[in-house]
This record gives sequence, structure tokens and C-alpha cells, in this order.
Amino acid sequence: MTSALQQSGAESAEIPEYPMARAAGCPFDPPPDLMAQQRRSPLTRVRLEDGSTSWLVTRYADQRTLLADPRLSSDAERPGYPRSAPIQPGGPKIGFILMDDPEHARLRRMVTAPFAIKRVEAMRPMVQRIVDDLIDEMLAGPKPVDLVEAFALPVPSLVICRLLGVPYADHDFFQANSKTIIKRTATPEDRAAASENLRDYLDRLVGEKLDDPGDDLLSRLTERIKSGELARQDAAAIGVLLLIAGHETTANMIALGTLALLEHPDQLALLRDTDDPKLVASAVEELLRYLHITHNGRRRVALEDIEIAGRTIRAGEGVILPNDIGNRDPDAFEDPDRLDLRRGARHHVAFGFGVHQCLGQPLARMELQVVCNTLYKRIPTLRLAADLRQIPFKHDGSVYGVYELPVTW
Ligand code: HEM
Repeated sequence: MTSALQQSGAESAEIPEYPMARAAGCPFDPPPDLMAQQRRSPLTRVRLEDGSTSWLVTRYADQRTLLADPRLSSDAERPGYPRSAPIQPGGPKIGFILMDDPEHARLRRMVTAPFAIKRVEAMRPMVQRIVDDLIDEMLAGPKPVDLVEAFALPVPSLVICRLLGVPYADHDFFQANSKTIIKRTATPEDRAAASENLRDYLDRLVGEKLDDPGDDLLSRLTERIKSGELARQDAAAIGVLLLIAGHETTANMIALGTLALLEHPDQLALLRDTDDPKLVASAVEELLRYLHITHNGRRRVALEDIEIAGRTIRAGEGVILPNDIGNRDPDAFEDPDRLDLRRGARHHVAFGFGVHQCLGQPLARMELQVVCNTLYKRIPTLRLAADLRQIPFKHDGSVYGVYELPVTW
């Protein structure tokens, strides 16, 4: 459906483009033009790379209201959905993240148990061992070292592999394909091929576990296949979602978080010198708020007309809710551009909000707490081994972070 907005050429000439470029100056801040939009108006229109237009919701409170509104759909195949990159129609689905209830809720429920806080806490000693072993290896090896390759990527990859029952020996394969899927500048054909690679890989694993189940999440899904509750292809698609979401996001938070702390030595010192688990937990929430790695915005399409902030979003129009600027809204966080590890930031929207709120957040929190409580204490002289201007940032990804982080000590 073409909205009146899309038909109006005169209006669209004034509509700013989205995504907007980040300032060369501070790699941790949202694009200044986007922040200016937030100050100007709670709801504005933006033009996407494919020429279509979408609503942009700039403020924290409205973002939460809309993310909890069932009149907004996550179904990327609906006309009007504001795509972050072109897709190849009919490509393999990636789990339930782009589905609506009730099918979304039905599938999500099948995998919630292992991400419950109690179950995640039981994994803390295992995560601590992984973190300690990787730090031992780094300390024993040559320096400088790329912290992404040596630490940030292996920590969550090892954890999600154990949880799912995916062999870590295949990490080069699944990391490379995940990287292509979340790269906005990859061609639709390359992204579809990478999704197919992962879907086929997970389907093979599910097949093996159907015959010979182990003690892992994929094996538990095969019980549901056997009972007729779950189609095998949906089990593989859920596996793809959990494998990608389980390592890419947390890896970027570890590397970008470390860089942010190295650039804020007073805050790094707070973490290095504390034994207080509450301060460590608060630091993790503040890093999540401040760094907003899922920076391209939650994306939805309206199923019905919705009144918000004195305007009407019409059925069929796209809506973008960038949680990076929601997390910098001065009405929700005092002095929002300051990194303040002691601030109570747990109400941030870095994990989204509403029915699609991050399923893996207890796991991500726990992994980041273990890292924040260990890395800077065990390597107290950790420092950048390159100029900040030489660090390659992921401006072309749907998850923000750094491609490499050369460090020494
Ligand atoms: C710091 C790390 C992480 C961040 C910042 C993050 C962020 C997010 C966000 C913003 C969403 C909402 C998507 C939407 O509303 O459209 C989401 C959903 C999701 N995340 Fe995470 N995530 C992280 C780690 C993880 C981990 C470790 C897992 C574990 C497998 C995970 C699994 C998922 C899943 C399955 C969904 C889809 C939920 C649904 O559609 O119901 N995430 N995540």
C-alpha cells in the first residue's frame, strides 16, 4: 500500500535521510542530526535508502508506548515495513524475531526456559572459566593483540555453542555467515546465501540430534518435533536466530564497551577497583544504555491507524524506533551523554521493549558482568595499541561495534 506520504514528492524533498551519519568526533554518540530531530519533534518522517519514507519516533516514552502496541507489526514481508537493507524475496526465515503473535509467542515460548535468570545464573561459573582461560591465553601470547578476535568474539560464541549444542569448532563458518547477514552493505543475494548456509547447517545439526539427542537446547527442540508441536524447519530457523543473536551482539558490547572504558579512564578505574557486584551490574546497564549497539532502530509497520504525539500513523506506514536516541533522551536519563557507571540505567531500551524484548538479556547481562568484573582487574594496564582514529567502526552493520580492537598492556 502506498501512503499519501510516499506519494507526495514535494514533501519528500524536505525529508531527512535515515540512517544519518555518525559524527567523526565521538564514535559512541548517535548521529548529531538524529539527536537534533529528537529535540525538535517526537515524531518525524525520514527517507530510507530505497527512497521510501517512514515515521521516526525520537523519544524514549513514545518508543516504549509503541513497542508495546500490538497494532505495530514486526513482519518484514508486509508492505510498508521499513527495511534496513534490500532483501531477496522468499529467503529463509530467521527464527521468530520478524513474526507477530500468536505464532511469535508460540515459538518463543519453546525456548524461554534456558534464558530464565535462575538457569542463566547456573551458567556463571562456566562463563567465568571461559573468560579466565581466554585471558590466560592472551597473557601468554604475543602483544599487541586484537581483542575482538582473541576475546570479545570467542566469549559469547563459546557460551551460545554450549547452550545450543553447536560445535565451537565450526565457529569460523558460523561467524563469517552471521557477519554477512548483519552487514547492511552486503548484496541481497549474499545475505540470502549466508542465511541458507546457516539454515542448512542448523538443519543438519537438528537431524543429528533427532537420532542422538544430548543435553542442550537444540536437542530439547527435537522432542517438540517428535511430538508434532514444531516443524523441523522452524527448529532450524530458531537455531539460526539464537546462534546469531547469541554471539554477535554480546561480542560487540564487549569490544565497544572496552573501548569506551579505555576512553573514560576514571570510569574504568571504578570497575577495576571494586568488588561490589551491584556496581558491576550497574556498569553493565550503563554501558548498554550509552553504547546502544542495535543502532539502526527497531522497525515496525502499522496494522491500524495509531494516534501518538498529536499525529496519526496510518495503517501500512513504516515506523522506526531508534533505541540509541531513546537511551539519550534527557527526559528519561539525566545528563544522558555522560558515561556514568554508577547511574541506575536499567530502564534503558537497549534490549528493546514489548513482546520482542530481547530473549537473551539475562544471558547477555551475566556474560557482560563476568567480563567487566574480570578483564580490567586481571589486565590492569590494558590500553589501546592504536590511535582511536585508526579503529574500524561498524558503520555498515545492523549491529554497531568495532571490527578490530588492537590492545596491549
Ligand atoms: C548485549 C547483547 C544484546 C543486545 C544489545 C540485544 C538486543 C536485542 C534487541 C534490541 C532485541 C529486540 C528486537 C526487536 O524488538 O525487534 C533483541 C531480540 C532478541 N534477542 Fe537480543 N540482544 C543481546 C543479546 C542476546 C543474546 C545473548 C541472545 C541469546 C540467544 C539474544 C537473543 C535474542 C532473541 C531470540 C531476540 C528476539 C526476541 C523476539 O523476537 O521475541 N540476544 N535483542
